[in-house]
Amino acid sequence: MKTQGSSSSVAIVTGGARGIGLGCAKSLVSKDFNIVLVDVLDNELNQATSALCATGMHAESFVADVSDFQKAQNVVERILERYESIDVLVNNAGTPMPKGLLDISEGEWDRTIDVHLKGCFNWSRAVVPSMLKSGTGRIVNISSISAYSGGVTRAVSKFAYAAAKAGILGMTRSLAKELGPSVTVNAVCPGAIKTELTGEMLERRSAEFTEGISLRRLGTPEDIGEVVAFLATVEPNFITGQAITVDGFQWIT
Ligand SMILES: NC(=O)c1ccc[n+]([C@@H]2O[C@H](COP(=O)([O-])OP(=O)(O)OC[C@H]3O[C@@H](n4cnc5c(N)ncnc54)[C@H](O)[C@@H]3O)[C@@H](O)[C@H]2O)c1
Repeated sequence: MKTQGSSSSVAIVTGGARGIGLGCAKSLVSKDFNIVLVDVLDNELNQATSALCATGMHAESFVADVSDFQKAQNVVERILERYESIDVLVNNAGTPMPKGLLDISEGEWDRTIDVHLKGCFNWSRAVVPSMLKSGTGRIVNISSISAYSGGVTRAVSKFAYAAAKAGILGMTRSLAKELGPSVTVNAVCPGAIKTELTGEMLERRSAEFTEGISLRRLGTPEDIGEVVAFLATVEPNFITGQAITVDGFQWIT
């Protein structure tokens, strides 16, 4: 039987072409995971995959929209042709939604929920049967401090985004109950992390943000990746159904 992080272990990271997803993939590679990246950005996927392969681990990628249920099933079938089972799933793909209640369209609401919340469902539904069959697996869902704060004012994450991220916490706790003891399910709630998603906004408001963060800096994808890798590998493991905030203690919202 494989142990977590053995050289035949595999981790799937959705939204892994850049930003926090790529940070997670790099941390998991450093813990001897082979990586499968899933994203909608073809060029960025190729670059990220080459960079990960350069470490000597196997990395491959699939262009897929996480909101597509059937696509998740098809990709996971393909992955299981190569690997015995899937050890880790990081549900990370996400998009900003800066519109408030009176500005958002029905389609934009649906899309926000589809990418963040249904995306977690689609990939968990596709991957979990193989985890249950192998008797082990770890799922880490990327939520946000927006789930608690109600969204970062004037930024990327108003109510629809916050609702989706709060939904992810409910899903995390419910699945932790449903899938234990074989599969652990946890969430990570990042604060302000410097990525493409937040780039322009955080650059503009960098001083204001860092003033409101105890550790006096913005987060990096590596800050999140290391916590995700911890949840994916810690032994002995007695952590499930938890949401870990990684925000340098950010009180500006
Ligand atoms: N950056 C932050 O401050 C911050 C804070 C809290 C939570 N988050 C969450 O972290 C996750 C990663 O965000 P990031 O900051 O790295 O953003 P990012 O935009 O840099 O990366 C997100 C990745 O997800 C991919 N993606 C988007 N929609 C997709 C879809 N439908 N199917 C497949 N892939 C898709 C994008 O192409 C991109 O590669 C998101 O879920 C985001 O909500 C980010």
